[in-house]
Amino acid sequence: MSNLHTELQRRRTFGIVSHPDAGKTTLTEKLLLFGGAINEAGAVKSNKIKKGATSDFMEIERQRGISVATSVMAFEYQGKHINILDTPGHQDFAEDTYRTLTAVDSAIVVVDVAKGVEAQTEKLVNVCRMRATPIIVFINKLDREGRDAFDLLDEIESKLGLRLCPLSWPIGMGAQFQGVYDVWSKSLLIYDQVNKQKVAEGVAFSDLDNPELVERIGAKAAETLREELELVAGVYPEFDQDAYLRGELQPVFFGSALNNFGVRELLNCFAEIAPHPQPKAAEERVVHPEEAKFSGFVFKIHANIDPNHRSRIAFVKVVSGTFERNTNYLHVREGKNLKFSSPMTFLASKREVVEEAYPGDIVGLPDTGLFRIGDSLTGGESLHFSGIPSFSPEHFRFINNADPMKSKQLAKGVDQLMDEGVAQLFTLVANGRKVIGTVGALQYEVIQYRLEHEYGAKCSYEPFPAYKALWVEGKDAGQLAELERMKARQLAHDKFGRLVFLADSQFGLHMTQEKFYRIVFHEKSEF
Ligand code: G4P
Repeated sequence: MSNLHTELQRRRTFGIVSHPDAGKTTLTEKLLLFGGAINEAGAVKSNKIKKGATSDFMEIERQRGISVATSVMAFEYQGKHINILDTPGHQDFAEDTYRTLTAVDSAIVVVDVAKGVEAQTEKLVNVCRMRATPIIVFINKLDREGRDAFDLLDEIESKLGLRLCPLSWPIGMGAQFQGVYDVWSKSLLIYDQVNKQKVAEGVAFSDLDNPELVERIGAKAAETLREELELVAGVYPEFDQDAYLRGELQPVFFGSALNNFGVRELLNCFAEIAPHPQPKAAEERVVHPEEAKFSGFVFKIHANIDPNHRSRIAFVKVVSGTFERNTNYLHVREGKNLKFSSPMTFLASKREVVEEAYPGDIVGLPDTGLFRIGDSLTGGESLHFSGIPSFSPEHFRFINNADPMKSKQLAKGVDQLMDEGVAQLFTLVANGRKVIGTVGALQYEVIQYRLEHEYGAKCSYEPFPAYKALWVEGKDAGQLAELERMKARQLAHDKFGRLVFLADSQFGLHMTQEKFYRIVFHEKSEF
């Protein structure tokens, strides 16, 4: 069998998503520890933006710089090559996270046992669901008092729209936490309350009626466990790998990342069931990973805004074939052939020049401004990968030129920053004014600062009364013309010329939807 086939079969590329503080960084670190990619806890720098630092975006950028190094963390485990794609935890960078999720083949969702489903979890899981990404749920912090497991699973199912299948089950919680029963491997994992960080070894335990269970966890806990597992078997569907791979069933594990507890069990199951890179749709055709010719797409661009080390890195996910250093590839949008002498991979906190990469891998290409999010790179064929949609921003402001002598610089700066995906630009249909939409208010400062320092342009902002952007699909020419006439002030074109309705309120949107019932208002740019 070809090398390409073998390599792609063993690739597992995934992202961990969670609300900040649920334990994403800790879990990432523990996975790397088990994978032998790092030797000590604390080696993965948190890309978390410290609370209270939100007004100081240079500090945030500094921390974001750290996160470049941890953008992709690769390690080998049980013959699998695992790529973890890091997702920024700070919600002002949520757009970055959405895009990263377009490059993963599966996801692990971390939920804090005490806090349950939080806002950011909901948004991110929604993005996964839109793409039918296979998900495994990890319920974390079992060493603390938390919610009743059944209630929590109910909440996860109803709020996140998932169909769960517990593959492990907790025995007590907080001070009473004794461990988990691993349904997947039919073993008992005992938590050491004294030596908490000790990695527990699972004991094979296929028969829960075995009296040894009582010896190990006590009569009361054994009875509860038996009852609960019976209930679990009655209420939840059996594990079905195909359903998981289709995004229709989500296995659940319980544990405590901080205490190394339940992490290896999660990883074992992940390595076994998670998908290898899948075929990806381009506008022209579906591209299969085992095709000999390389193809890939840019899902993220990272710019270092430190003026002394200005640089951009375009992150490319390999979709098919083998990517090779110093080989000519077609930058489809530009129609240019490009060769890369120092493409990078990222291994824990190290960057290395990579000679070749396989489907599922992420390659970092040094970029001088040629790339835009969503660009395709191929071995010669004209392919346009779809599936990097824009989502509605949450903040909107007019952008004005504050230095009339520098309007060219401003236009260029805004254009490039939008290519990087820092924010979205809308041009109002009525008067051509520009509105910038962002996921976090912080981005306005970032844009202003970067325009001034990188492009020598100055801008100012003015409030624009919108709460959501919706991409308009005008199925009825008559209604569309009517909408354009009546709502001209709220219609704009995005960077790609697509028509967008900038709703001023939920009520306003509702009224508009009722009136223009033959027009579809989409929450994302691809439909
Ligand atoms: P995030 O990346 O999702 O934002 O979360 P992170 O891993 O940074 O974890 C958030 C906090 O939760 C950290 O504490 C971390 O130590 C703690 N934590 C993670 N997993 C567990 C667990 O299984 N049990 C318990 N009890 N705590 C856990 P912190 O005090 O905010 O930070 P630190 O000073 O410990 O780094």
